Amino acid sequence: MEIKITKTTTPKEMPSEDKLGFGKVFTDHMFVMDYETGKGWYDARIVPFGNISLHPASTVLHYGAEIFEGLKAYRRLDGGVQLFRPMENVKRMNNSAERMCLPLIDEKDGLEILKTFVKLEERWVPKSFGTSLYLRPFMFGNDESLGVHAVKRATFMLIASPSGSYYAEGINPVKIMIESEDVRTVRGGTGYAKCGGNYAASTRAGEKASKMGYSQVLWLDGVERKYIEEVGAMNVMFKIDGEIVTPLLTGSILPGITRKSCIEVLKAKGYKVSERLLSVDELVEALESGKLEEAWGCGTAAVVSPIGKLAYGDKEYVVGDGKIGEVTQDLYDTLTGIQWGKLADPYGWIERI
Ligand code: PLP
Ligand code: COI
Repeated sequence: MEIKITKTTTPKEMPSEDKLGFGKVFTDHMFVMDYETGKGWYDARIVPFGNISLHPASTVLHYGAEIFEGLKAYRRLDGGVQLFRPMENVKRMNNSAERMCLPLIDEKDGLEILKTFVKLEERWVPKSFGTSLYLRPFMFGNDESLGVHAVKRATFMLIASPSGSYYAEGINPVKIMIESEDVRTVRGGTGYAKCGGNYAASTRAGEKASKMGYSQVLWLDGVERKYIEEVGAMNVMFKIDGEIVTPLLTGSILPGITRKSCIEVLKAKGYKVSERLLSVDELVEALESGKLEEAWGCGTAAVVSPIGKLAYGDKEYVVGDGKIGEVTQDLYDTLTGIQWGKLADPYGWIERI
């Protein structure tokens, strides 16, 4: 594909690496390309980062026709830059697009866009371990009409933000609240897609949890409010009496790339991993009997994040001894080791830039 590049004439200063936070600062450029039915994708371009203009009737503003992805460019110990399983993000973006009746992108083009953009923004990939250049591809419908139908016009964009840790806690254990009123999605809905609407619907419970001192919400299934699903921005795993359990992908949960990678790493290390339904009653029983040895979340932004406390109803439970567990630490070290190029990658997950 041809990508036209217009470089900025006013490059910004890179902020200090110890003050990055998550998703607050943006690089010098952004990728944009447009779509129209009958014409396909056209006008692929990298331009200086800036505001965009939308017709007030644009589909995204009224009916939420929007999907996104999240992945990172990592600075290797040897100074090089690499992506982690980027094709998985391209494929998942297309699955989300299919669910939301947005146009698909050619997979090879998707990867080329990511690599070309990161190459251009290379200086923005921070160097300290634990920091990275967070990449946010997104797509939205922008038909200039109020009819409800599959969009005829769309825009795909990619922006990037040098980032540190997602949680203020860093690798220290987070406190999570199990939500039993609001639900995130249901089977048959959009839970498996990465669409903005899922996050908009999650915000109320997240705010409630935050006011009570919790980092995020752990969702239960939307029909029976019985089975554990996932956390606001990460999938979840538990070590119960020696068995590692993670909720089955039933259609209402995001099929996380970090989740999939954790399962592969754990199995290769000889752990027993079960993808199955896990009821909140079983989890509470394990917490009360001391059988819940470890709990952690996993996601691109969250990496591998130990869960130190879980609240359900009016009770708060400490997970294990409240500190990062052995398996969680091992997983964190292995995954981040591969991602930041400190360890060899026996899985073929790394894409060098
Ligand atoms: N679940 C939700 C709701 C998320 O937003 C994310 C983040 O992307 C994840 C799970 C983890 O997915 P991944 O590991 O692909 O980043
Ligand atoms: C990611 O981990 O990439 C995400 O998309 C989570 C996000 C909602 C911050």
